[in-house]
Amino acid sequence: MNIHTYEKVWLVAAMVLIVGFIGTIAYGSTGVGIAMISDDEETIDPNALDEDERFADPRVEEAGENQYNVYVVAYQYGFDPGSEHITEPIVVPENSEVTFYVTSEDVIHSFSLVGTNVNTMVVPGEVSTMTAEFDEPAEYGILCNEYCGSGHHSMEGMLYVVPEDEFDIDDQDDESEADRDEADQNAEESAGEDE
Ligand code: CUA
Repeated sequence: MNIHTYEKVWLVAAMVLIVGFIGTIAYGSTGVGIAMISDDEETIDPNALDEDERFADPRVEEAGENQYNVYVVAYQYGFDPGSEHITEPIVVPENSEVTFYVTSEDVIHSFSLVGTNVNTMVVPGEVSTMTAEFDEPAEYGILCNEYCGSGHHSMEGMLYVVPEDEFDIDDQDDESEADRDEADQNAEESAGEDE
């Protein structure tokens, strides 16, 4: 059987593409360490975050030299810490490696640092964990990009990466619970005025 030269070229090109695609899928699912939530991972009771050592007092915590853990509770409609108009922004120093632990106390949200590849769903009962490095002072917006209710569009926050000499871990405000209650009350009052 005589196969035309162009036909052969196309056949080979098609085979190379197919093998290439299978290769990228295989690499993406095993090589880069991306995993779905599995049953044997630890879960958390979203109704009892107050009893969890990490989330009872959401905060920035020093974990080692230039290493920080940030515990964030997402809720309708904000991040604690993160939403600076309600509680406080997240502040970390430059040249740091930061691990975010994010959970939700109500519905599914997301935690996305605009302009970075930090972007995860936040599911009640689960703790989303991501590590990022911040080399220079910068400001990042935090967004929720899962529709979570009528206030979804207002669910936002800020992360400030500050120069090392301006960073003081003791500055972190721990009255966020009171701030949130107050913000809730204000929201209720202004909702009442609308009627
Ligand atoms: Cu939270 Cu949308």
